[in-house]
Amino acid sequence: MTTKSLKRISWLISLCVCLAAAACSSNKPHRNHFAVDSTHHGTHGTHGNPEDLDAYVSHLENPSRNGWQKPDDVVAKLFVQPGATVCDVGAGPGYFSLRLAEVVGAQGRVYAVDVEPRILGRLQERIGQSGLRNIVPILGLPDDPLLPAGVCDVVLIVNTLHHFPDPVAYLKRLGRALNQSGRIVNIDFYKRPTPMGPPVEARISAEDVVAMAEQAGLKLAAKHEELLEYQYFLEFVSN
Ligand SMILES: C[S@@+](CC[C@H](N)C(=O)[O-])C[C@H]1O[C@@H](n2cnc3c(N)ncnc32)[C@H](O)[C@@H]1O
Repeated sequence: MTTKSLKRISWLISLCVCLAAAACSSNKPHRNHFAVDSTHHGTHGTHGNPEDLDAYVSHLENPSRNGWQKPDDVVAKLFVQPGATVCDVGAGPGYFSLRLAEVVGAQGRVYAVDVEPRILGRLQERIGQSGLRNIVPILGLPDDPLLPAGVCDVVLIVNTLHHFPDPVAYLKRLGRALNQSGRIVNIDFYKRPTPMGPPVEARISAEDVVAMAEQAGLKLAAKHEELLEYQYFLEFVSN
């Protein structure tokens, strides 16, 4: 090979490297967790969260979410009674925990579990602002919610199951946190393109969640397909 052709090859390699670098730098993480964007989801932060936690928390709390997430309808569908104990796992800044705390009232309790201390800090701020005294924030471990055994009437998991390192093992632990008539409710995005939500490849299909739950010693008790356009709503009880 001549010196000239060697120079040409090295020039071509440099060009490819530059083009690849330019492509990467234009792939900046999206600021909206609920907008489909495969570049940000869990690739930069910890526990499957984006790196910019402040932006993430703002989007989780954003009232524009209410149109499709229908939090009041979801909470009504849980049929939670005053005095009940609800365990909100992957609670985030408390989008559901605060609503649930209103419903269970002063005699009830909401255990709000999250693995990310900064997100839990924001939840604590919101609890302080709300004046609610029946929410117990728990800093869980990635593989263990650290919930007391046998206490939960309802465990609620929203948009979180795919964050668990081992969903089957985690569901087993959640099963132990249920009381005798307790239920686990899992709400998450269908594994198909939707106008918001994590990238499709990061999602777990409803069928796979049912299979995982069965492996964890749970059985499907109900599913509500009519309520949410983009998400399944599955209820499980101990088998
Ligand atoms: C998409 S957010 C959902 C928050 C809340 N459920 C909501 O609907 O607004 C997922 C949350 O799960 C938390 N998370 C991730 N891995 C977790 C784990 N192993 N245990 C508990 N929480 C976890 C994240 O820190 C984040 O706050």
